[in-house]
Amino acid sequence: MTILDGNKVSSDIKLEIAKQVEAIIERGEKVPHLAAVLVGTDGASMTYVNSKVKDCKMVGFGSTLIDLPEETTEEKLLEIIHELNTDKDIDGFIVQLPLPKHIDEQKVLMAINPDKDVDGFHPMNVGRMTLDLPTFISATPFGILELLERYNVETSGKHVVVIGRSHIVGRPMSILMSQKRNAGNATVTVAHSRTRNLAEITKQADIIIAALGIPEFLTGDMVKEGVTVIDVGITRVPDDTKKRGYRLAGDVHFDSVSPKSEYITPVPGGVGPMTRAMLLKNTLLARERHIL
Ligand code: GUN
Repeated sequence: MTILDGNKVSSDIKLEIAKQVEAIIERGEKVPHLAAVLVGTDGASMTYVNSKVKDCKMVGFGSTLIDLPEETTEEKLLEIIHELNTDKDIDGFIVQLPLPKHIDEQKVLMAINPDKDVDGFHPMNVGRMTLDLPTFISATPFGILELLERYNVETSGKHVVVIGRSHIVGRPMSILMSQKRNAGNATVTVAHSRTRNLAEITKQADIIIAALGIPEFLTGDMVKEGVTVIDVGITRVPDDTKKRGYRLAGDVHFDSVSPKSEYITPVPGGVGPMTRAMLLKNTLLARERHIL
């Protein structure tokens, strides 16, 4: 069993990006600049956004955190997005999801300039992705592809089972892995909450991507020997023995699945850090596209 070490690979990627930033500075050009918009005080979202800003500093990017109160109106948020769309200093920006219930998420995502949409959530970029055109691939699916590629995990002709059909992970992942690409050319099954006899399907999988958001859902009896498992879940499970009052659990029951796995991602330290690294990669890409 080999651990797909997201911490290690994401550090490598960040070092590569930092070197590219040094070259940008040597050429006397403007460094990439990422802005992140956070609405409200959701604990996990605050942690994620702060990490994204910290990552920018680490590789030498400029960063701006726009921290808005929970009661921010949709109109105000759209106004801020318009400002970011037209601010020449900002190469890319993200609006952290989920948004408070009174704000229409799709309306907000559609207001983002697709050329600055480093999350790849705009329908234009999702459409481009499905048509194999150059685009911003969402950071989590992009990170999973990169992790599979860097560990030379064979995907061509393999049966990939994606559990979950979210817009952020399951849906794009299922499309990407079926495409003619590195870490692609797979035969893909998408399973979800209405799937019957899930274990019979997962037992046929060469690669399982668990992205359903239920802690420790995938257990050892649901997988075959030699499977590769990508665990996208990261849920805060209450735990009084921890100082912070919770532990982080993936969608995979690691102790029973890992002995049967050829490759497996841990939680934490698997997909999470890869997502952060690929957002930086997309921001660098946005900067390069704006120069062209
Ligand atoms: N919420 C959970 N994952 C993400 C992500 O990748 N981007 C944004 N903007 N919000 C998220």
